[in-house]
Amino acid sequence: MVKLLTSVFCALLGCGGAAAIDLNGLRSIGPVASFVKADSSVTLSCADGSQVRITVLAPDLIRVRAAFLGKLPDRDHSWAIEKSSWDVPHWDLAEDSGALRISTAELEVVVHRSPLQIEFRDVKTDQTINADQSPMRFDPQSGVVAAAKKLGFDEHFYGLGEKATRLDKRRGEFTMWNSDTFGYQEGTDPVYQSIPFYIGWQHGAAYGVFFDNSYRTHFDFGASSQEYAAFSAEGGEMNYYLFQGPSIKKILARYADLTGHMPMPPMWALGNQQSRYSYYPDSLAEEVVRKYRADDLPLDVLHLDIHFMNAFRPFTWDPQRFPDPKAFTDRLRAQGVKVVTIVDPGIKLQPPAEGARDAASHPELAPQDQSYYVYNQGKAQDFFLKRKDGGTYIARVWPGESVFVDFTLDRAASWWGDLHRAYTDNGVAGIWNDMNEPSDFNDQTGKSQMDVVTYDGGTYSAYAGNRNVFALNEARATYQGLQRLLPNQRPYVITRAAYAGIQRYATMWAGDNRSTWDALALSLPMFMTLGLSGEPFVGSDVGGFVGRADAELLVRWYQVGFLTPFCRNHAAMDSPDHEPWRYGKYYEDIIRKYLKLRYRLLPFLYTVLEESHRTGVPMFRPLLLNYQEDENTLGIDDEFMIGDDLLVAPILKPNLTARLVYLPPGVWFDYWTGARHEGSRMVHVEAPLETVPLFVRGGSILPLGPEQNYVGEKPADPLQFEIYPDARGEASTLLYEDDGLTEAYRHGSFRQTSVSYRHTPAGDRIDLRVPAGEFHPAPRDLLLTVRPATTVRQVLIDGKSQGRAATVRIKDDGQSHRIELR
Ligand code: GLC
Repeated sequence: MVKLLTSVFCALLGCGGAAAIDLNGLRSIGPVASFVKADSSVTLSCADGSQVRITVLAPDLIRVRAAFLGKLPDRDHSWAIEKSSWDVPHWDLAEDSGALRISTAELEVVVHRSPLQIEFRDVKTDQTINADQSPMRFDPQSGVVAAAKKLGFDEHFYGLGEKATRLDKRRGEFTMWNSDTFGYQEGTDPVYQSIPFYIGWQHGAAYGVFFDNSYRTHFDFGASSQEYAAFSAEGGEMNYYLFQGPSIKKILARYADLTGHMPMPPMWALGNQQSRYSYYPDSLAEEVVRKYRADDLPLDVLHLDIHFMNAFRPFTWDPQRFPDPKAFTDRLRAQGVKVVTIVDPGIKLQPPAEGARDAASHPELAPQDQSYYVYNQGKAQDFFLKRKDGGTYIARVWPGESVFVDFTLDRAASWWGDLHRAYTDNGVAGIWNDMNEPSDFNDQTGKSQMDVVTYDGGTYSAYAGNRNVFALNEARATYQGLQRLLPNQRPYVITRAAYAGIQRYATMWAGDNRSTWDALALSLPMFMTLGLSGEPFVGSDVGGFVGRADAELLVRWYQVGFLTPFCRNHAAMDSPDHEPWRYGKYYEDIIRKYLKLRYRLLPFLYTVLEESHRTGVPMFRPLLLNYQEDENTLGIDDEFMIGDDLLVAPILKPNLTARLVYLPPGVWFDYWTGARHEGSRMVHVEAPLETVPLFVRGGSILPLGPEQNYVGEKPADPLQFEIYPDARGEASTLLYEDDGLTEAYRHGSFRQTSVSYRHTPAGDRIDLRVPAGEFHPAPRDLLLTVRPATTVRQVLIDGKSQGRAATVRIKDDGQSHRIELR
């Protein structure tokens, strides 16, 4: 009771921190009195007047929605959901005196009538995969809703989006409430994002739960009791989706269908990025790029932090620091560098001076002191958020007193999107959405925002339920604005805060981390967890944002960052500089080696990125995701995999030059030495500062491009395939390519190149199949090499003798070819 009171108290006062869920004191939903079957659902009427609807969306996806002591409201809307109409799959309903049974090809949902408890069973194994431990609960006074599930003795939990904690969440408790948490550390909870989706794993089989409720929610995976795992919200509906696996990859695919697939970002988003709070004036920003080029360091993106604006006013440029932004971005683009500008949601509250007017054209370049066009336009159209009493909600952020846009209002959202003309007209290529929890220096708990209302489909609902979706709606408005302003170009948006569904509009970075070894180590489970929560494009500030990174830490950080989807070095205003060259040549040479390798690996990384877009399976993976039946992987979060084929075991502590690495079942090759290892065991690996332990999965074929200093600097000619055979002597890959920039990939303009390899007693055989898709790369050669190298006495291409070189060179002519190595 004390705990319940605490959480109700917190709901009212907005305290931070996770609260364990105590079910005592909450009322249970009444037993089933009657039911009605419809096309895809069964609606239960309960003895206490409550209503529950169980909807079959797909054979492996069931939705449970409950209203307590009353009927389900007609309005059924969530900002997270992308797909709401599903083809009704075949399903059956059976009943007996004790229960209703809803069955699909994969699931049986047993609804016990009294007490009302729901159980999900796998029809193939006849095992229970998830079951209520007690009936759904609620508190009529506070609006709290809760569900408790039986906690398996061997059950493990993953997901919940951005969480500053280890990979396995069993026995942990967590809260969702988007919070600006500068300098967060392991255990800080909540942090910036709310993704109320988790995956449960037991004996190799997984299921998923998406509790789609944007109020402050709580998750308790056995922190309060060894008997239940629970989730609750401080308002809104009991509304969750149950995903049947048993494969985690299958769950992630369904989650992506439901909440949206990440669109392909431009390929240059995979390039190296550099930021600083803040680079100014323009000449200094150009100096950074000049240094990158002079030192032969790859760079694709330069970020401009808040000092590029006119006194921190969004959608302006500082006229002294950046007098000619178009010329500035043109000069950088000529060197292959794209500019991304920060956009904060806080619009400076600045009524115009008497008689002042906004410039008719290019107001973003005008002095704003007398009249700030963005404030004036937003005010005139009544787009700013208000409190319940009608007064404007005024926050304090970088520009001082500021107002926020109501992004749930379509007209306001499209106005916001169009405002980005101030940047795209001046050559800006992408947008960085920060401070969008939304942060308010007056009060970071969100308490003072509780009576802010949003339009929200005409409901004028309060921030208790809508604050967590502020960033999602901002990102949507930003993404759609860029779509209009830069037609047929893939928008590039980065966000700090989020709610489920964010992957449709924005990539993310993990906010204000610290320059510490602990923060580096923490970043691995954070990226894995984000990936297991539907966010495939992740990264954090390389070198850490707050504090001082020394040279060793920076190098080890790059040995993780060179394979994170988002690779950006960034630092706080008062942090020492830590660009790659700041500690001298010895360290810079090592960093260069990793950045160069990232660019060589681009064909591989881009292939994995496309897999993420298509399937929802992330690039940066825990071993568990690829080997979910191997219990040894359950808690491994100091190693990671990129796609199916690369395994990295970085050094995450100072003064270490070796470590133990767990290799999952199969065969593995040390990338640096070519040494072959059997999996399912720990190996001891040397890791001097120059070397990060890096392994290639036997069975894979790694596509590699040329070394380059920005995406597109050189054509991928020759394109190299390194073949790493598995225990049976086989390997294969399906390389994905497209133009990297436009939306044409959605309409068939891509190319999939299939390469497969087989070792036979008569020799090795490589098959190149006719590529699929309508994208045609420029003429080029392919190089094929088997690792580790063997002696080749004769090479036959399509039966014709072609010398004896161990590396085979062949024209990429779009035809199928048979290559034999004898
Ligand atoms: C926030 C951001 C950080 C940025 C700073 C100034 O702290 O998280 O990345 O540098 O604001 O804009």
